[in-house]
Amino acid sequence: MNQIVTLDEFIIRRQNDFQYATGELTGLLRDIGVAAKIINREVNKAGLLNILGTAQTSSNASGDTVQKLDLYANEKLIDCLKNSGECCGIASEENEDFIPIEGITGKQGKYIVVFDPLDGSSNIDVNVSVGTIFGIYRRKSKATATVELNDFLQTGAELVAAGYVLYGTSTLLVYSTGNGVNGFTLDPTIGEFCLSHQNIQIPKRGNYYSVNQGYYLKFDVEMRRYIDNCCDENLRLRYIGSMVSDIHRILFQGGIFLYPNTRKYPLGKLRLLYECNPLSFIVEQAGGKAMNCQLKRILDLPISQLHQKATIAIGSPAMVDDMKTFVERYSLPASINEHV
Ligand code: AHG
Ligand code: MN
Ligand code: MN
Repeated sequence: MNQIVTLDEFIIRRQNDFQYATGELTGLLRDIGVAAKIINREVNKAGLLNILGTAQTSSNASGDTVQKLDLYANEKLIDCLKNSGECCGIASEENEDFIPIEGITGKQGKYIVVFDPLDGSSNIDVNVSVGTIFGIYRRKSKATATVELNDFLQTGAELVAAGYVLYGTSTLLVYSTGNGVNGFTLDPTIGEFCLSHQNIQIPKRGNYYSVNQGYYLKFDVEMRRYIDNCCDENLRLRYIGSMVSDIHRILFQGGIFLYPNTRKYPLGKLRLLYECNPLSFIVEQAGGKAMNCQLKRILDLPISQLHQKATIAIGSPAMVDDMKTFVERYSLPASINEHV
């Protein structure tokens, strides 16, 4: 019989992977895991409850329409991250400002957690997969003081751990502490995340490309040339509208995900802190690459705002390299590009 390894057991077995105290990481991941189970329960029964649809409270900090489950997921993550006492501050897609977390029993946490509580939330009403994305940083300021904005404005390269939860046909938690990527599937019968995908390696190439092709005419010419090449190469287009789901497929089957600048989103749409950075950390740890449309590594991008946006090309290393070659070859001076 195969031995079941739970998420908690795995963290303890691999304690040397985490350069800080194992108990701290166990506490943080347990908090996130508990929130994921609660969110999963609500996502699963969303069709049965009056919880679907757009929240009364209009839009979030980036101007997107907020779904009720977004707010529910946000609340549960914040509540659960207070449990272990390891987290001292939170930044979320759904909160304009960061949230300081009080220490418990005289202990002040050392970690910052950033998250997109529900990614792909426009899919909820139609039973398509959604996800949670998270990143974990060490705070920069003194542990005795309240967290400050600078604690959150760290580059992706400074992440100490990152991961995502995919609420799909099964629920998976995938995370990395900088020593490879491992995936855990929620066994609903025992309520535990169990090791199911060890040392995930992204294929060098894949047969899929993933982009909102409806915006094709709004992309810069060099990005259009790369997308044309994907079509010429008979790559198959897959775009779920939930970045976590698209990246999850790419991790296992290979491919590239693009969210370039458009006329509507000149700086890109996806948020650097809690979408692009954690997923780029995971993809790089699995052997992939992630860069923006100016061909800078995502994890090195300086960050000056919590809700800062970034363009992104992420996935199989050889495909991201191809994209880079096309962008370099077909880039026009900005003044000409505006008229193409
Ligand atoms: P969120 O639901 O957290 O706002 O994120 C949605 C994001 C991302 O998951 C997805 O890939 C992208 O928005 C889809 O955007 P378009 O509809 O513009 O393609
Ligand atoms: Mn999102
Ligand atoms: Mn979201």
